[in-house]
Amino acid sequence: MSTPAPRKKVTTLGLRQKKAKAEPITMLTAYDFATAQAIDRAGLDTILVGDSLGMVVLGYENTLPVTMAEMLHHCRAVARGAKFALLIGDMPFLSYQISAEEALRNAGRFLQEGGMDAVKLEGGRERRAAVEAIVGAGIPVMGHLGLTPQSVHQLGGFRPQARDASAAARLLEDALILQDAGCFALVLESIPGRLARLVSQRLEIPTIGIGAGVGCDGQVLVTHDLLGLFDRFTPKFVKKYADLHSVMAQAFEAYRSEVERRAFPGPEHTVEMSDEEWRALERSSGKAG
Ligand code: KIV
Repeated sequence: MSTPAPRKKVTTLGLRQKKAKAEPITMLTAYDFATAQAIDRAGLDTILVGDSLGMVVLGYENTLPVTMAEMLHHCRAVARGAKFALLIGDMPFLSYQISAEEALRNAGRFLQEGGMDAVKLEGGRERRAAVEAIVGAGIPVMGHLGLTPQSVHQLGGFRPQARDASAAARLLEDALILQDAGCFALVLESIPGRLARLVSQRLEIPTIGIGAGVGCDGQVLVTHDLLGLFDRFTPKFVKKYADLHSVMAQAFEAYRSEVERRAFPGPEHTVEMSDEEWRALERSSGKAG
């Protein structure tokens, strides 16, 4: 029997090759060491340290309050856990919109300080200069079109996008502009399935869908949604592969009850000392316990 080829680090080129071979690209979000390790061991192609961090880990109402410092802190934890997946850091609100120079400086921090391989940013034609500046410095950029959560107030809520012909045509144009600006891939979030398929067919770079149907070149979900860890709100397009919120609640309740009944810790959870040492303690302290 031949030994399997050793696993190699996934690159942006590797994702492009998967698209060429019509092999689906797999991506999940992670924000901590243990989750990154588990996703990496499961063999996914790429991990996004999404600014969804703000909602599913930090408890903010939306992603707008997330800072560079928070993102970098979690990127470092993920980078320590994942050795093979391509690591993508999500640029937070106002870290790339003000000027191309600031966008480049902040993108660089994701690689230098966060241990990421690439960055992601939201928006279409208005991001052209930022994308060109970052890519021009050798940093791979993933775009993000459709429902772009950092524009939640402009979009009037977390709602599907590009459902009429003119908005759909504009999104297709934006996708081509981002490809032309140098993006290595695009996230397409919450747009009609047939539009996502059309965009995927027209682009040479891979598309990664979330709520955009099976016609994309790959799929991404927020890991906390997939695991059923986040019970505040789950978008319609999420498939829950587990209900860990209930599992956690049951475990916490069982622990509380066992502690209250003195059923935990048992002898098997308790460190012991030898009888000889114990007797020595009794002698020296005048009968312990
Ligand atoms: O922040 C995030 O997790 C994302 C994904 C939903 C693509 O942008």
